[in-house]
Amino acid sequence: MRLTGKTALITGGAGGIGSATARCFAEEGARVIIGDIDTAGCDSVCAEIREQGGDASWFFVDVKSEEQIAALFASIRERHERLDILVAIAGGDLDPFTPPDEITGSAIDSNLGLNLRSCMLCCREAARIMKHQRYGRIVTMSSLVYRGAQGQFSYAAAKGGIAAFTRSLTMTLGSSNITVNALAPALVDVPVFRKVLGRERWEALLRESATRYPLNRVAQPLDVAKAALFLASDEAAFITGQILEISGGARL
Ligand SMILES: NC(=O)c1ccc[n+]([C@@H]2O[C@H](COP(=O)([O-])OP(=O)(O)OC[C@H]3O[C@@H](n4cnc5c(N)ncnc54)[C@H](O)[C@@H]3O)[C@@H](O)[C@H]2O)c1
Repeated sequence: MRLTGKTALITGGAGGIGSATARCFAEEGARVIIGDIDTAGCDSVCAEIREQGGDASWFFVDVKSEEQIAALFASIRERHERLDILVAIAGGDLDPFTPPDEITGSAIDSNLGLNLRSCMLCCREAARIMKHQRYGRIVTMSSLVYRGAQGQFSYAAAKGGIAAFTRSLTMTLGSSNITVNALAPALVDVPVFRKVLGRERWEALLRESATRYPLNRVAQPLDVAKAALFLASDEAAFITGQILEISGGARL
């Protein structure tokens, strides 16, 4: 088991990629804490992990709120005394496909707030704990759109910001034995898309997208979870400042 004795916080752990990561980390022996707004989702992921003999708990947090993020980390300090791993996954595109001449200031604020600002604040809190214990693994959630994406302006800017922030953080936290890396997945087959688009449209989109990926399929949540596991494990002790594209070779 690669994470025995480690305490890991996974924000967005009730979602498609986050829940796969939570399950995967628990199977590898981590004590998993999920931070999310989806309380029913948190309950069911934690129950599933516990049924399999794992250790999981959750904390309600809206990552758009600095106060709620601070409360989450205060609770971790109090209940667990340490935090070895942060995987900051919570996020999503709140303003997809708005043409560039119709973008609004409030939509920009929302997308940067949910994705970039929340990541920066979670990393700040994690760094405070990890510097003190002189150990940490931080994994942030960018996206392949960090390279730029047609029709995803504020989301691409947020994910690009996360990539730049991740690399910047690396330079400061390395001397405290903290690694910081970002995940940059291309399209991932998560339930939320199926729900929003309907099964038929989603499956047609999956088939069409797969033709553009050298591996001829899009990612499953577990593909991303396994990459997060590697970066969070001691096998990746000398890897920091990387933006790991989990893309099946797309857009090479
Ligand atoms: N699915 C993809 O194709 C894809 C590709 C690249 C990157 N990503 C990124 O991966 C992450 C996870 O996305 P997913 O595909 O699993 O979608 P998802 O919607 O299943 O997961 C997102 C999770 O974040 C939580 N969340 C949303 N707003 C929150 C808030 N304000 N506070 C706390 N939690 C909140 C949701 O409840 C959910 O559990 C996101 O950051 C997304 O941008 C996804």
